[in-house]
Amino acid sequence: MKEAGKLNITKSLELYEEASSLVPGGVLGARKPTDFIAGEYPIFIESGKGCRLIDVDGNEFIDFLCGYGPIILGYREKEVDEAVNKQIREKGFCFTLSQKYQNDLAKKIAELVPCAELSIFLKTGSDATTASIRIARAYTNKVKVMRCGYHGWHDWCVEMKGGIPEKFYEDVYEFGYNNPNQLEELLAEHGPETAAIIMTPFGHPNHQEMQIPRPGFLETVRGLADKYGAVLIYDEIRTGFRLSMGGAQKLYGVSPDLSVLGKAIANGYPISVVTGKKDVMMAAAEKLFISSTFFPNSEAFIAALKTIEILERDNVLAEIWEKGEWFMEKIQAILDKHDVGAELTGIAPMFYITFKKDVSGAYKGKRRDFYTQMIRKGFFFSPYHHAYICYRHTEEDLKLTLRAIDESLSLVKEKYK
Ligand SMILES: Cc1ncc(COP(=O)(O)O)c(C=O)c1O
Repeated sequence: MKEAGKLNITKSLELYEEASSLVPGGVLGARKPTDFIAGEYPIFIESGKGCRLIDVDGNEFIDFLCGYGPIILGYREKEVDEAVNKQIREKGFCFTLSQKYQNDLAKKIAELVPCAELSIFLKTGSDATTASIRIARAYTNKVKVMRCGYHGWHDWCVEMKGGIPEKFYEDVYEFGYNNPNQLEELLAEHGPETAAIIMTPFGHPNHQEMQIPRPGFLETVRGLADKYGAVLIYDEIRTGFRLSMGGAQKLYGVSPDLSVLGKAIANGYPISVVTGKKDVMMAAAEKLFISSTFFPNSEAFIAALKTIEILERDNVLAEIWEKGEWFMEKIQAILDKHDVGAELTGIAPMFYITFKKDVSGAYKGKRRDFYTQMIRKGFFFSPYHHAYICYRHTEEDLKLTLRAIDESLSLVKEKYK
């Protein structure tokens, strides 16, 4: 099998060089070349349509990162964009006072999400996770937080601690997904002071294999939260409006007290939500100041309402599950055939191909070579982040992807035999 040739990413590199003199580091956070494979992946995108991307050098890709999660339908989804354009043209979207769409969206969320009674609307996932912790602390008059998963870039939870005084995160403790004993031990020590347990209800820890909840795990955490009087918060920023219309809590049948939603709710427009039980949520009105200039901007509410309308009308998530299950079954067969230590984890709407860790570190080379071949062939995955399926991935797109996975793994096999 012949290796695919390196992409021409000249313009990306030129723009990156220019960016490095304008923006610290050129690009921020998880968009850095080292978050993919430096020298192989494009750095700047020109446009997207459906499930396809075109970079600034004209390379075309079938995309499986979906903007790191918000793209549930597809890029430039006409109905959503037109609803937003109409709002901007005919009414405007940025005012001092709120427009009525917050009520419409809060009603819809209460209808769909099991724990939802009252909702507040913000912009980013980090806004929402941070607001949920503040609400839980205000409601319980307690301080400590148990956390499990990625919750954003704010002081209390970011991994890189530079620039943050220790006191801002010293009351926050981490436990592992599917590890109720670890949580139980932490609560045995800190339970009476614990305000919140915040966790992703489906396991998608950064850079690691994905984890389905083991039988009884979510129920045990629910029980521990009740036992210690802590607010249970599900971080459904990735899973909301993707695993089901009611999120992972609906799929797995265990309901938290609060939940945060974002990403897929508005197909790319910036909006996030804290939703939950009335008595807990009322702390937001009674004891807190949660306000920001852009929180009430209505273009994102319009986008969310339209996206939810399409998700319901066209039964989008059922189709994503069906396509994804078929796709994962075929990927698994390819992995089994090549037997090079590649592993598939996750569930139909979000899955991840990783390489089994070995002491020699060969897995890192396999990972680099596999994802290098994939990007060169025109398939945009990340070596360090799971993939998503969106509505606009067609069977044909997925078949092309399967062929590329097969070819790329056979190259890996040849190299590491
Ligand atoms: C589970 C989870 N929570 C919170 C966040 C933070 O969201 P944002 O990047 O919109 O601030 C993310 C972002 O990836 C996330 O995946």
